[in-house]
Amino acid sequence: MLRSRYFLTLILSIACIFYFDSTKGCWAQHTLEARVDSILKTLSIEEKIGQLNLRGTSSRSKELSQELIEQVRKGEVGAVLNLTNPQQVMALQEIAMKESRSKIPLMFGRDVIHGYKTMFPIPLALAASWDMELVETTSAIAAHEAYSQGIHWTFAPMLDICRDARWGRIAESPGEDPYLASKLAVAYIRGFQGSSPGKPGSLIACAKHFAAYGAAEGGRDYNTAQVSLPVLHDVYLKPFEAAVEAGAGTFMAGFQDLNGVPCTANRYLIQDILKTKWKYSGFLVSDWNANKELIAHGYAEDEKDAAYKAMSAGLDMEMTSKTYERFLKQLIQEKFLKEEQLNEAVRNIIRTKLKFGLFENPYFKDRNLFPVLSQEHLSQAKDAAIKSAVLLHNQASTLPLSQKTSIALLGPLADAAREQLGTWTFDGNPNDAITPKKAWEQKGIPFQYAAGLPYSRSKDESYFKAAISAAKKSEVIIFVGGEEAILSGEAHSRADIRLPGNQEKLILELAKTKKKIILVLMAGRPLDIQAVLPHVHAVLMMWHPGTMGGPALFDLIYGTSYPSGKLPVTWPKSGAQLPLYYNHTNTGRPASASSFIPLDSIPVGAWQSSLGNTSHYLDLGYAPQFPFGHGLGYTEFSFSQLHLKQSIYQSDDTLRVSLLVKNTGKSMGKETVQLYLQDVTGSVVRPIKELKAFEQITLAPGMEKEVYFAIPIASLGFHDSQLNFRTEPGKFKVMAGNSSATLLTEEFILEP
Ligand code: NOJ
Repeated sequence: MLRSRYFLTLILSIACIFYFDSTKGCWAQHTLEARVDSILKTLSIEEKIGQLNLRGTSSRSKELSQELIEQVRKGEVGAVLNLTNPQQVMALQEIAMKESRSKIPLMFGRDVIHGYKTMFPIPLALAASWDMELVETTSAIAAHEAYSQGIHWTFAPMLDICRDARWGRIAESPGEDPYLASKLAVAYIRGFQGSSPGKPGSLIACAKHFAAYGAAEGGRDYNTAQVSLPVLHDVYLKPFEAAVEAGAGTFMAGFQDLNGVPCTANRYLIQDILKTKWKYSGFLVSDWNANKELIAHGYAEDEKDAAYKAMSAGLDMEMTSKTYERFLKQLIQEKFLKEEQLNEAVRNIIRTKLKFGLFENPYFKDRNLFPVLSQEHLSQAKDAAIKSAVLLHNQASTLPLSQKTSIALLGPLADAAREQLGTWTFDGNPNDAITPKKAWEQKGIPFQYAAGLPYSRSKDESYFKAAISAAKKSEVIIFVGGEEAILSGEAHSRADIRLPGNQEKLILELAKTKKKIILVLMAGRPLDIQAVLPHVHAVLMMWHPGTMGGPALFDLIYGTSYPSGKLPVTWPKSGAQLPLYYNHTNTGRPASASSFIPLDSIPVGAWQSSLGNTSHYLDLGYAPQFPFGHGLGYTEFSFSQLHLKQSIYQSDDTLRVSLLVKNTGKSMGKETVQLYLQDVTGSVVRPIKELKAFEQITLAPGMEKEVYFAIPIASLGFHDSQLNFRTEPGKFKVMAGNSSATLLTEEFILEP
């Protein structure tokens, strides 16, 4: 009797340990933890440390290294990065699953940032779509394609708020706004990870770079980020918090130091915020070699000290450097670290592998069901490039053109397949990309073509002649310029963000033909176009639009599609204005048109204090070239009747706002209705406006729509100087319109 009860208990507990919750597609929490612990118990200290190892391979190497094979066999590797040959992936996984003692599947990671084989527009471009469904779709396609090649884990989304276009990684960023970035975080994670963790065809997401990497001083990559704690919480951490809520499987630490402590070993970020406050149960990986770089930072004396500091702060997995592998065991034996600290990191990694189905599906089940570069993917890529494009300027409705207008297609990026794919295009093939030139050829529309410059940085004027002659034979010039892909992305910061090479000079030469010029920009960042703007008639920002950039441009130019993108970053006049962002505070002497005295109009010998004394540059003013949220279409919208349901609110109320939007133009269009708020007076000075909601509506000419927003008053809170999150009573402004600059305004009072 006793014996049978014993067996029953045993069977039940085994069933409990191995219970897989198929409705959620994951291990039910209690059984998951039991399973994590039961695996952990079987591991030697070396095998535990092995789980913390993310080994890098070069994506160019043809053979698997013997050293890696041996390490995997010994259970000394937890994950592998940059292995993109599916046969090698399977072979290595088989060694892990069958030949190693621990039998824990490897995780295969790759930077799948904006597509795998089908390249979508760069992340900053996708942010410009303000279209979360689109972002979810493109990420899901990227996941399917990457999974089909043996990849489990993407190092995306990058959620670094960026206020400085000099920083090359702005191209990968969600832009400057925490609300928009938080929405994007959720869309990316849903897209990559799918409807349930571990579903075949999905990837494990990695929210990076935790945190404030985008605040690199001077926009110089890897540079220190000095950010006040209230701003850290209210701006830079917001999208990461959203990523935790959306279930991001993993996090990556930033390379840089935040307020003096490198993120790799930043206890405040990792322990206090991520793991304690947000109760994050995934794992945090370092960036490439970053443990070792603690020495160069001047934060660790040597590799042993680096391992100690990173582990003490709570960093779970180390990418490529080997400080954990070399020193953790010794640090534990010498009692500098407790084995429990190691166990915690191993638990986080094993839990993630279990939760995302790696144990059940180590060999990428059904991977052949996921095609790459299918017609559907390409048409989504075209749609994404169209929806990401931002029409910045369109003098006298220059765009769209009639197909009868003769055109000269010019510029160094009009036929530059590789460049239009943008940064982080390891796996996309330029041969699959359709450039503007190719798109026009495919459509069979006659056009003149000349590059004018062989590449974006070229200063070679010998190509000018052909471009000018092509321009003279045409009614309109479409100049496709900007930056090659290599000029943005990691470590590719620029101090001067003008069009590189002799592009300005060429455009000014072309302007002498008196033909209309449509400037199409392909770039990873906003550019300083002050010199050419007065000479061109339309400016269309395509960013780096990806594989289908050419066909997307074709449709936009002729109005088969209309532009609807909105800037996710403030577009500066010049790099000298940076950092620049719309949600800044006011200063005690806010700049204004009436107080601004331009440098050239200052009388010689002017009296010291006669210059208006407000916050501006004498030589650049105070306004950006184009405001955050700006973007034109081919029609016009009017905004009216901004209405607040109440004028007085309590802190647990919901703010209800409505306004009327009408398509007053002659064609169909999509508008992004934006709602901003300002807490007029605070115990900490508040931004002059903050995006709190937006909605995209599509209206036929003459149609109008009442748009409603409901915003919980609690979401108007902020962190005060003691880091308490609270709403403060007083006057608030509500502003609505089609950008951060064009706004209807109302007010309400929040009662104590
Ligand atoms: C360094 C980059 O900062 C990071 O974003 C990327 O995921 C890793 N390298 C791996 O390639």
